[in-house]
Amino acid sequence: MFDIYNRKIDYIRISVTDRCNLRCIYCMPEKGVQSVDNKDILSYEEIIYLCENFAKIGISKIKITGGEPLVRDNLAYLIKKIKSIQGINNVTLTTNGILLEEQIDSLVKSGLDAVNVSIDSLDEITYKSITRIGDVNKVIRGIDKTLEYKNIVVKINCVPIEGINDKQILDITKLAKNKNLSVRFIELMPIGLGKKINGMSEEKIKKIIQENYGELIVYNKPMGNGPSNYYSLENFQGKIGFISAVNHKFCNSCNRVRITANGFLKTCLQYNEGQDLKSLIRSGKSDEEINEVIKKTIYNKPKENRFLEQNCCEKLEQNIMSQIGG
Ligand code: 5AD
Ligand code: SF4
Repeated sequence: MFDIYNRKIDYIRISVTDRCNLRCIYCMPEKGVQSVDNKDILSYEEIIYLCENFAKIGISKIKITGGEPLVRDNLAYLIKKIKSIQGINNVTLTTNGILLEEQIDSLVKSGLDAVNVSIDSLDEITYKSITRIGDVNKVIRGIDKTLEYKNIVVKINCVPIEGINDKQILDITKLAKNKNLSVRFIELMPIGLGKKINGMSEEKIKKIIQENYGELIVYNKPMGNGPSNYYSLENFQGKIGFISAVNHKFCNSCNRVRITANGFLKTCLQYNEGQDLKSLIRSGKSDEEINEVIKKTIYNKPKENRFLEQNCCEKLEQNIMSQIGG
């Protein structure tokens, strides 16, 4: 369907849990995380029901996110069910990769199309300083096992932070040389704990890459469902992308909405605007009524983020990223 600004909305990110087995410094506090009560998390049946509704209004691509989606039991079951819905032709996953090695076989069997793995450093110590508890070797084994499946598209997400993993940018970039995957550098967004940390600009990252691996050549063919600008490097198998929501915002071509783990339909990352679909489903509203609400909410998707304005507006998102679903 199209929203009020004539953007085609055909992609939804569904968070299946706000829980995570890591504690990345820009996403979750070390201790005292407030988790959503289990009873307030959408059941798989509720998620499947919503996906059927989304398919009816023209959503064809679904990304499963978290928290960390692989900590929820039997995710492969959900993926299989979603994949079988008429009109849904692309189901992908964003994961921190810790449990990927264990689960990739069943995920692939369920029909998964692509995996995005977040990895901010290949160095054990730096990785731990960002994730607080993660073992990077597990993630690397998960990536390598996933790459054995030639039909699964693999992308790496890295959030560069000045003084923390900036020295890792070249090693992460090099993954796209040696392996059949693309790497995307994500600009840190001032949401939740990300407000307190300084990310790095796309320009600075590009300079570091070009000084070492040569010219980044603009790559214009479509790749995936998202807002990344891609580049090629000579002798690299995969592409290098940049997602810079703050300083190169892409709101005018935004194609997505989100569902949080507790069933809130969220139409833009920065604001708390949207609709509590869980309550609607649980109060026994009819399919038609729910469908109308979904359409109306998506239609009224905000025009753009205002990350660059200090205290720009009311209705700002107050949750941390793991609760929103990155
Ligand atoms: N800004 C940018 N990216 C973030 N992520 C989590 N919090 C932020 C933030 N404030 C990223 C994770 C992961 C993806 C799902 O979202 O690193 O790659
Ligand atoms: Fe977990 Fe992802 Fe948040 Fe890190 S960024 S704590 S892996 S949800």
